[in-house]
Amino acid sequence: QKSLTVSDIQGRKGGVPLVCLTAYTTPTARLVDQHCDVTLVGDSLGMVLHGLPSTLGVTLEMMVLHGQSVMRGLSRSLCVIDLPFGTYEESPAQAFRNASRLLAETGAAAVKLEGGVHMAETIAFLVARGIPVMSHLGLTPQSVNVLSGYKVQGKGPDAQRILTDAQAVSDAGAFAVVLEKIPQALAHEITQAIAIPTIGIGAGPACDGQILVVDDMLGAFADFRPKFVKRYAELSKQASQAIEQYAAEVRAGEFPAQVHSFGQPA
Ligand code: KIV
Ligand code: NA
Repeated sequence: QKSLTVSDIQGRKGGVPLVCLTAYTTPTARLVDQHCDVTLVGDSLGMVLHGLPSTLGVTLEMMVLHGQSVMRGLSRSLCVIDLPFGTYEESPAQAFRNASRLLAETGAAAVKLEGGVHMAETIAFLVARGIPVMSHLGLTPQSVNVLSGYKVQGKGPDAQRILTDAQAVSDAGAFAVVLEKIPQALAHEITQAIAIPTIGIGAGPACDGQILVVDDMLGAFADFRPKFVKRYAELSKQASQAIEQYAAEVRAGEFPAQVHSFGQPA
């Protein structure tokens, strides 16, 4: 089975919505790959897997390790990997140095980075040198300290700025753009205005695709429940019940039973 390319994804503008999820490890990547067009190794892994308070502490080394794990589970979907905070903002040269390392060491097809107009030069620089770029606008979690929290972005006069950012990253050569936590009318306007697919998360139904953090939609990351996440399972509830039962059975001497044991009973 041939895997999807950047141009396959770009060609889905205005078509059947692109289905995207995050994955951080091989087993989840295998599941995601069966049904999704894009698998994102998101820097959300810092919060979801490593217990960090934000994505700011995620390192390039963490992204390489999880990117390698995810790639072992993929055969069809396009793998995009986040450039973490502090590895690309300084200059196009810094971005290329770190993005090329991510692609070379993981085999992922593309990188994602946060920011609009001020990152356009970097996006063009990377694309010209062989690195496809997905952009990320609206609520950009790496800027949580400037944004003063994880609020809805693009309300009022701020809407025009995000539209301008979307136009800039599209013109700079990004192949798609994530729109996070913005009003659905603005996401609709941007989707109509720019040439590349928009992938929404908390951006309403008008986008060219949707993405969620897989642990959120599976109910596996229990301490986080934003309005835009629909839970398709309650895995942490089930896991908690399973561990409670295991503990009770071990304490009661019920586990392991004979079927779980080798040789004759003592
Ligand atoms: O890190 C991440 O998981 C992301 C998605 C939420 C788009 O950037
Ligand atoms: Na991210």
